[in-house]
Amino acid sequence: MKLPQTVNVLLLGGGGREHAFAWKIAQSLRLEKLYVAPGNAGTVAYGIGVDVDPGNFPALKQFVLNNYINLVVVGPEQPLVDGVKDYFLNDPEIRHIPVVGPSQEAARLEGSKEYAKAFMARHGVPTAAYFVVTAENLEEGCEFLATKVRAPYVLKADGLAAGKGVLILNDLAQAQAELRAMLEGKFGTASKKVVIEEFLSGIEVSVFVATDGVSYKILPEAKDYKRVGEGDTGLNTGGMGAVSPVPFATEEFMEKVRTRIVEPTVRGIREEGLDYTGFIFIGLMNCGGDPMVVEYNVRMGDPETEVVLPRIQSDIIDLFEGIVHKTLDEKVLEVTPQTAVTVVCVSGGYPGDYEKGKVISGLSSAGVEDGRSLVFHAGTAFANGGREIVTAGGRVLAVTSLGASIPEAAARSYETIGRIEYEGMYCRRDIGRDLL
Ligand code: AMP
Ligand code: GLY
Repeated sequence: MKLPQTVNVLLLGGGGREHAFAWKIAQSLRLEKLYVAPGNAGTVAYGIGVDVDPGNFPALKQFVLNNYINLVVVGPEQPLVDGVKDYFLNDPEIRHIPVVGPSQEAARLEGSKEYAKAFMARHGVPTAAYFVVTAENLEEGCEFLATKVRAPYVLKADGLAAGKGVLILNDLAQAQAELRAMLEGKFGTASKKVVIEEFLSGIEVSVFVATDGVSYKILPEAKDYKRVGEGDTGLNTGGMGAVSPVPFATEEFMEKVRTRIVEPTVRGIREEGLDYTGFIFIGLMNCGGDPMVVEYNVRMGDPETEVVLPRIQSDIIDLFEGIVHKTLDEKVLEVTPQTAVTVVCVSGGYPGDYEKGKVISGLSSAGVEDGRSLVFHAGTAFANGGREIVTAGGRVLAVTSLGASIPEAAARSYETIGRIEYEGMYCRRDIGRDLL
């Protein structure tokens, strides 16, 4: 089966990732109408904003039926982990509408660290050694920390904890105390179970895979910058910038990623009969030339999507069709060799407390390409009857540029950022510099 030649698409989410998806989907000749739930002040340039919560499945059902939606694309992990795909499949009225994303069971690859580690062990995917601890075997967990691993100690909440559930500690006593605190609910129910991991030292790279559950396409890889401060200092954030391609991800390295990680992962999905028609985001550590998996996510990355999609030249609705109708091996993925750099502008104080509602000036129009850069909106909203765009979150904009090199693309993004202003605006000035 194929999608109709032109389609109505519903995209779920409202961050920079979804603005990038909306921008890319809108370029497709196969698009009839795009809706984004909830979207932001940038996505409205490409699709109609819909006031439906992506977690409210009955409301989504009503919306897709009323608006003749042919395809649903899920941006963030939460609706997937909550079973949006299964909700569609289990309802005779909407089961024919394909969803780009994995089933609830398959989404546990992101939703449960223990599930992901056990999956990797079953399929021989290289990853750090680990041990699972609950309140029942806390003493064994402390013993494992003391005798089986060396500092730094890596503790991970099993469940989703908004990107905050990983602690890396240098001191054994402190690690044991934190283990106890996590089990006692430091990250709510997400840390009722904790995965202790061996520390992997190396440099991280994110690899993105589109799969129909049988075949796959490897999309451009990216490196993101998680710490708030320059030189990778300060608190962890949702991402302060990203670069693609990644110079150390050479052909030889990517071939190892393909044979040692992507192949066994997709084979594992197939052998276990998991319903996976979507994107796999594999967080990797390059350990002296050998890739090791740090984590799976069941969606695209943010802000990595803002550098990955601008490098893809082929039609995205064609790619979605390959994913949902299991014809991915018939599709061709074209990628520009150009370098993309995105720099994230955040609210002052982020990732701690910050104020919202600051007027953003210098955006030539909502949503915008100014010719040199792509200004993807994340936490933005309209104010004053639509006359102004204001900040509405910690991460506000992701400014992407293409260029022949990292310095060229980065310089373009910084120049564009120089024309944008809001009170408390902050960005890292060193995105990509470590790769030169
Ligand atoms: P995760 O949520 O599993 O991606 O972990 C968040 C971040 O913690 C990763 O992006 C890494 O920077 C770091 N991290 C996680 N696991 C390890 C590990 N085993 N060794 C070293 N760093 C890690
Ligand atoms: N940039 C990391 C993530 O999307 O999880």
